[in-house]
Amino acid sequence: MTAEIINGKALADELRNEMKVEVEELKKQGIYPHLTVVLVGDNPASKSYVNGKEKACRETGISSDLIELPTSITEEELLALIERLNQDSAVHGILVQLPLPTHIREQQIIETIHPNKDVDGFHPISIGRMMAGMNTFLPCTPFGIVTMLQSKHIPMEGKHAVIIGRSNIVGKPVGQLLLNENATVTYCHSRTKDLQQFTKQADILIVAVGKPNAIHANDIKEGATVIDVGINRLEDGSLTGDVDFESAKEKAAFITPVPRGVGPMTITMLLKNTIKAAEGLEK
Ligand code: GUN
Repeated sequence: MTAEIINGKALADELRNEMKVEVEELKKQGIYPHLTVVLVGDNPASKSYVNGKEKACRETGISSDLIELPTSITEEELLALIERLNQDSAVHGILVQLPLPTHIREQQIIETIHPNKDVDGFHPISIGRMMAGMNTFLPCTPFGIVTMLQSKHIPMEGKHAVIIGRSNIVGKPVGQLLLNENATVTYCHSRTKDLQQFTKQADILIVAVGKPNAIHANDIKEGATVIDVGINRLEDGSLTGDVDFESAKEKAAFITPVPRGVGPMTITMLLKNTIKAAEGLEK
């Protein structure tokens, strides 16, 4: 079997075109969706991600501003900034790019962002609402993954979804979203014994380990859907995922490439959350 490739870039473009129209409609009502991005320090990867987010906002008609702060900023100063953004009615979404310098407690920062402006979906209130299946901001990468599966009408109900990776940003929440869609979910991670025993059972395999070639064709069940969340930069500067794409695509039914897979969908879901924040979460 040769897999159908799920083109995340094409789906992202389609969704962004729909969102452009929604943004125009909001503007006619006097609502100008606005995202404020906070970047601390000069991590090149973070800078590049933030640039991508701002560009996507511009292209969709969403205004954004970037607050760049030196690594030397104190936790107290950053908290004060977030409090000010919480109070600013022109700011609909607040995104503090992670990771933060080690002297700043990330969890403290995340919890200070008002849940109605939490477009990352990282606040414990957002996570709790997601777990209860309530209306909330969903974390962007998991939300993008489920949207990709839905776009290809890949059934989740009753299917065995195996997640490799248990980060708060991807692994844990994507498992929860798949559970909300009535999948049977198994979490695997660095301490899992005999990983292949689990991966070979997966109807839907989500790979978020951050290592090139972590998964090969012989780890995959024939006809599985393989979602590669990895973004690894090789020595030659090229990007690759966590899955050995060339071998895996001969065994899977559906597979996401890297680049042009999950990555563009993550940013697209951030745009969606920002529009939702501008409309008001309760709508
Ligand atoms: N760092 C890596 N991914 C993310 C993300 O989705 N949101 C934020 N705020 N920081 C990140």
